[in-house]
Order: sequence, then structure tokens, then C-alpha cells
Amino acid sequence: MVLAASLWASLWASLWASLWALLEAAAVLALLGAAAAVVLLYCDPAVRRNLAVASQFPQPRGVPVIGHLLLLLKSREDVFGMLRRFRRTLGSRFVITMLGRTVFAVSDPQAVEVSRHMSKGVVYELLKPWLGLGLLTSGGGLWRSRRKLLTPAFHFRILDQFSQHLEQQARGLADELDAARRAAADRGHVVDVVPVISGTTLRAIRVTAMGAVDFETDSSSDLASEKSYFDAIHRVGTTTVARLVRPWLWPAPVFKLTGLYRSLREDLRTLHAFTAKVRPTARHETVEKSIRTAGDDGGGAGVGRKAGRLRPFLDVLLHAQRDGADLTDKNIREEVDTFMFEGHDTTSMALCWALELLGRHPAAQDRLAGELRGAAADWEAVSRLPYLDRVVKECLRLRPSVPVISRTLDSDAVLDNKQVLPARAVVTISIVRVSAGKRFALMEVKLLLAAVVRAFRVRSAMADGEDMFIADLVLRPRAGVLLELTPR
Ligand code: HEM
Repeated sequence: MVLAASLWASLWASLWASLWALLEAAAVLALLGAAAAVVLLYCDPAVRRNLAVASQFPQPRGVPVIGHLLLLLKSREDVFGMLRRFRRTLGSRFVITMLGRTVFAVSDPQAVEVSRHMSKGVVYELLKPWLGLGLLTSGGGLWRSRRKLLTPAFHFRILDQFSQHLEQQARGLADELDAARRAAADRGHVVDVVPVISGTTLRAIRVTAMGAVDFETDSSSDLASEKSYFDAIHRVGTTTVARLVRPWLWPAPVFKLTGLYRSLREDLRTLHAFTAKVRPTARHETVEKSIRTAGDDGGGAGVGRKAGRLRPFLDVLLHAQRDGADLTDKNIREEVDTFMFEGHDTTSMALCWALELLGRHPAAQDRLAGELRGAAADWEAVSRLPYLDRVVKECLRLRPSVPVISRTLDSDAVLDNKQVLPARAVVTISIVRVSAGKRFALMEVKLLLAAVVRAFRVRSAMADGEDMFIADLVLRPRAGVLLELTPR
């Protein structure tokens, strides 16, 4: 018995020692591998050139070789505030480096010049497990043909057909906010409006572009799956930002060894399961029948108009597939994933931030409420309100839902005829860009904003400051958008 115990103990000790030896060897190998990768990277003439050019730009204080990596590895709340501080202290052009990689941040009108030389940046690669080769993540010829195919799906004639759905969502939003306000009586009627508004904008894209006409807005299972969809999008944002600032996690085989990957895989299951429900019920025959194009009305050419018809988003894809376009079921799912995300999260944030800004500027809010008092609530009337138009555009300028986009330069770009941005550099650009869903977005944000301001006096209950936002795929608040709502 004693012998067996001591044998077991010595076996255990030697197993343990071998395990440690293995772990040590793995750690040493990983370090050597990382060092070799960095040395190899610095041997690349393009990398050396980029670093040389970068040294002529303003930069925050960094560390040799690793550059600004330690600053970027802070929490994503800090990262966003920090980038805004750099913009303020270093100017509209500055550089960040990490392990030999250079990121040029440009936020002045010359950024337009950069757009002639670019393909999509690394962040879009990181989004591909979710969005595949949808419009946001694809590039080159594929992007051009899809853009041509889908642009007519947001033609103003299509949007006219959607207006009554959006007007209905606007009425529903005012009611839901009223319920949330009552439920927050013990908190001074201060409500985090993000979940309610995101629910509305998600339903808006589902009942319009996705054609989910038979979709139950108040069923509890729908609300639960909406919530898990939002939560998964937020976590994917966190994972993507975390991976973006860790260049060693960019290669998929390395990333797949991490816990971040396992959490991403779980979230992607949720996101794809949510959008998979879209396809079977989606039919826009009634909308389609009522829209006949007469001659050229500026909607752009494409399969969406081939039969003299304009079709809404999902039908464009389904018909194109039926008519023999090179479009698999997977391709369609990727576009649905892209438009479902882009089509609700951007407008939700635009509306939340517009309300927050109006909640800080009572004079502008009163003026808007005055304009709304004299107008009907339908799109016909709301689309003609000049002050509402100015408010929405100014709010989008001050708090753009997509504050930064990222591209990789295909060739050198020259700014102001003198400053060169070198090929292969990653450039982040902060200029307001025209989106594929611009018309739809403006219509929706105006209708919803008008309904909320008509129903409530809004006061911001948030402290102003740089730590209000977090780094994400859209301009997301750190901890909700808190507004005090008082019925008018
Ligand atoms: C206020 C609302 C919106 C803002 C501020 C906005 C802004 C933007 C920006 C800046 C981009 C370029 C992103 C990049 O290249 O990284 C973009 C792309 C895109 N947006 Fe929007 N967007 C809004 C609403 C919408 C809506 C409602 C839809 C769909 C109905 C939509 C669909 C798309 C798509 C598909 C792309 C990729 C387009 C492409 O690369 O050609 N967006 N958006």
C-alpha cells in the first residue's frame, strides 16, 4: 500500500515536471517565433519605408519596436477617448505604430484624396467571419457589381412605399418610450433610450428592406431574440477592437487558439441564426407590383430595374439569383447580415445622439418642437421641414454614427501636393461619407426624431466628456444614452 502510494507520488511528480518542461519549451518557442516575426517584418523594405515616412508625422510618445502598442492595449473606453485626445493635441494628421505597422489617421478634407488609392483595411478582414463578402467588407469588382445591383433597392420610389411602415414604427417608439418613462418614475423618469430605439430601428429594417411583413413586433420570443442579437453585436464589437489592437491575433490560425475566438464563434452563431429567419418569409410582391418605373428616373441601372421594375432590397437579391446572376444562398445571407447590422445600428445611434444633443440645447429643441407643431406626422409633411433637416444633418456631423473608416493604400497618396502617405499603410479616415443607405437613414431618423420630440421634452442626464464613447464599429455610448423624458 505504502509502495503503491510512493510510486504514484513519483509518477505524478515526473508527469508534472515533464508538463512544466513542455510549457517552458512552448513559451520559449513562442517568444523566439515572435522575435523572428518582428525581425522579418523589419526586413521588409515597405515596412521600413512606412516607418521612415511615419516619423515625419506627429506621433504620441511611443516605445522602440512596439511603438504605441501599450497605449492601445488599454480598455476600449480608454482607446476611443485617447484617439480623440490625439486628434486634439496632435492635429488632423497623426500616426500610430504597433510592432512595425503604421496607421495614418487623417481627419481633414484631404482624406478624400486618399480614397483614390485604397482598398479596404484590416478591420474589414476581421469582420469577414460575420459579414462574409457583403457590401461593407468586399472590395474591387465584386463590390462594384453588388453596389450597382443594390443601389436601386433604396430608390425614392421604394422608400415612398416604406413610409407608412416607418410612420407606424415612429408612433410605436413614442408609446414605448412613454412606457419606459413611467417605469423609471423612481429614477426621475431618466431612461436609457438605446435598447428601445435599437429595437425600433431593427424592426424598421426588418419590415421594410427585409420584407418581414408577417413579423410579430410584440411577441416575447421575437423580443428575446432581438436582445440576444444586440448583445452578440456588442460583444463582436469588443472582440473586433481587441483583435485589431493585437496584430499577432490577425492571422486566423493564431486567433483560433484564443478564448476570444471561442466567444466570437458563439456570437456568430447567434447573429447568423437571427438573420437566417429573414429569408423564407421575405416577399415584397405587393410593393413590387405597385412600383413601375417610367423612363430614366435617376435610380441607377442594375438587375433591380431590368424588368422595368424597382424592387426592394431582398427581392433584388432573390430575383437576381433566379435570373442567373452569380449569387449563391451564402452571398445573399452575407448581404442580409450586412444590411441588417448597418441598417439598424447606425440609425439607432444617430437618433440616440441627436436626442442627447437636443437634450443639451433647449433652444434648438424648442425651435424644432415649434416647427413640428405646425406639421402633420406623415412623411409627406416631415420630409419638408427645413429645421428638422438641419438638426439631423448637424447632429450627424457632430456625432457621426460611423466616425472612422479604415483603408489600406494600394499606392502612394500625396496630400497637399507634398505630404506622401506610402503604399501599404493603413489609413483611418474621419470624414462624413455617403452611405449605401443614406436616403433610407435620413427618412427613418427624421420620422423617429419628429415623433419623439413631438411627444416629449428631452433633457440629457449624461456628463459631457471624452469618456462618453467606446471604440466600436459604430459610435456607441460607454453606458447607455440617458435622457429625462417629460411629456409635452
Ligand atoms: C445615419 C445613418 C448612417 C450612417 C451615418 C452611415 C454611414 C456609413 C459609412 C460612413 C459607411 C462607410 C463605411 C466603411 O466603408 O467602412 C457606410 C457604409 C454602408 N452603409 Fe451606412 N450609414 C448609415 C445608415 C445606413 C443604412 C440605413 C443602411 C442600410 C439600409 C446602410 C448600409 C450601408 C452599407 C451596406 C454600407 C457598405 C457600403 C459600401 O461599402 O459600399 N447604412 N455607412
